[in-house]
Amino acid sequence: MITNKTFTMLKPDTLEKGYVGPIIEKITAAGFKIIAMKMVRLSRADARDFYAIHKEKPFFDELVEFMVRGPIVVAILEKENAVEDFRALIGATNPAEAAEGTIRKLFADSISENAIHGSDSDENAVIEGSYHFAGREVF
Ligand code: PPS
Repeated sequence: MITNKTFTMLKPDTLEKGYVGPIIEKITAAGFKIIAMKMVRLSRADARDFYAIHKEKPFFDELVEFMVRGPIVVAILEKENAVEDFRALIGATNPAEAAEGTIRKLFADSISENAIHGSDSDENAVIEGSYHFAGREVF
C-alpha cells in the first residue's frame, strides 16, 4: 500500500523552544503539502497508546512523560514517497548522528528530546493519522 502521505508530530521541546515556524518552513520548502494540522496535548493514556509498540523498551516511561509535558503539533503531510523522504528530512533518531541540514540536527538536543516524529511506514502513517484526525479534518 503506497499512500503518498505521512504523519508527523512536533514534540513538546519544539513548542517550548519556539521552533514550530522554522520547522514547518523546512517541511513545506522540501515539497510536503500540509493536508491536516492541529495543536493538542496528549494524555498519558494517549501517549502510552500511541507508543504501545515500544512499551518493553527501557526508555518507554521517559518517552511517555516527555510527550505529555506540553502541547504538540500533529499533522498529515502529502508528497510523492512521503514516508521515506520525510524520514530523510528529519534525520536520525539521535540528533548527534543526524546528517547536516536535517531537522533533528538543526533543532533537537538529544535522543530523548528529538523535536519531531515521522511515521516509519505507509501502514503506520495511516494508523497514526487516523488516531489524531477525523475525516472532516483532513483536506
Ligand atoms: S527502536 O528501539 O529502534 O525501535 O527505537 P526507535 O525507533 O529508534 O525509537 C522509538 C521511539 O522512541 C524514541 N526514543 C527514545 N525516547 C527516549 N529515550 C531514548 N533513549 C529513546 N530512544 C528512542 C524515538 O524518538 C522514537 O520516537 P518517535 O516519535 O517515533 O521519533
